[in-house]
Amino acid sequence: DVYRKGMLEARTPEFPVAYEDLVERAREELSDEAFAYVAGGAGSESTVRANDRAFDEWQIVPRMMRDVSSRDLSVELFGREYPAPVMLAPIGVQGILHDEAELAVARAASEFEIPMILSSVSSFTFEEVADELGDSPGWFQLYWSSDRSVAASFLERAEAAGYEAVVATLDTPKMGWRERDIELGYLPFLQGLGLKNYFEDPAFRDRLEADDPWADPEASIESWSECFGDASLTWDDLEWLDEQTDLPVLVKGLLHPEDAREAVERGVDGLIVSNHGGRQVDGAIPALDALPDVVDAVEDATDDGEDVPVLFDSGIRRGSDVFQAVALGADAVLLGRPYALGLGIGGEDGVRAVLENLLADVDLTVGLSGCASVDEVDRSKVRRAER
Ligand code: FNR
Repeated sequence: DVYRKGMLEARTPEFPVAYEDLVERAREELSDEAFAYVAGGAGSESTVRANDRAFDEWQIVPRMMRDVSSRDLSVELFGREYPAPVMLAPIGVQGILHDEAELAVARAASEFEIPMILSSVSSFTFEEVADELGDSPGWFQLYWSSDRSVAASFLERAEAAGYEAVVATLDTPKMGWRERDIELGYLPFLQGLGLKNYFEDPAFRDRLEADDPWADPEASIESWSECFGDASLTWDDLEWLDEQTDLPVLVKGLLHPEDAREAVERGVDGLIVSNHGGRQVDGAIPALDALPDVVDAVEDATDDGEDVPVLFDSGIRRGSDVFQAVALGADAVLLGRPYALGLGIGGEDGVRAVLENLLADVDLTVGLSGCASVDEVDRSKVRRAER
């Protein structure tokens, strides 16, 4: 369709198609703070760059003559079918990028029935975004507060609002050392644009002396920063999390196969291999390098018939990246920066364009590689680059 439209009318797409061009457009159009917030990572940003480069270390070996006239991209996770092995990564504080923030993203995602994972630090509340999603799938990302009553309240609200899974982010008990954000003073934005879920939460309000968190923002922020994350967590704490919710629980941010084994043995329902897009530990290994060992560890740790999906993010930019991650064992991938840039550039339309292009690219790449369905995208279709 994309090509046909281009043949019938001379047109330049309204939004950039290539990831590199999205970045350039965003650099021109967004405020310095907003651009730094999306593009930046921890420290020297070596892991941000390594994430992207890791995909060059693998190559697809396409197969021919396999009747790929129709392709089935659907995948099933936790009993629900999704149209493609793609979902939207949790990205917080989207109000920096666009006034309609997560509401715009929810509208674009629901057009494709692509699941949206909503961040704890969203600019609209869990309930507001759930209303916008309607029947379209939403998952909820938990920043595990050291105040257990706040964490429990978030989980209860998310479940009541209709979110279908909990993604507990384990790699961020504190924010990483993000030099661009520190230099440009992004943190004040958090106050108005990322703390609404907290300020509107009954358990968080109980922590404060003032009745209205917005009346004394300094005290509220102080209280938030004391309870945002919990660096004392250990694997034993997973049991508490599991007791709080009936939803499937996934843990996000694993890179070591031993952690994956531990998580499976502790009963998690799924895990997400990720280095948070290089925003937490500068110098951490690219998430793609971690994926095959984690997949093997999960397979070893699961009992016969048990299925613990492994998802992946950090560096997904185009269809071939999705293909490689799925070939290396991911059940689905999370798209991060590309849709955030789309939001910043063009709101709902920008996110829609990014998704439409990515899904078309995935469809073509799967078919042209000789696969009629996602099931056929396995390790036999890729090899390590020989140089
Ligand atoms: C993130 N990420 C993130 N993760 C999370 O669990 N909760 C959050 O609130 C956020 N917020 C956030 C903001 C921004 C601006 C970015 C870029 C990322 C991490 C995100 O879910 C995902 O792991 C990365 O985006 C993957 O890296 P790439 O593919 O976007 O480079």
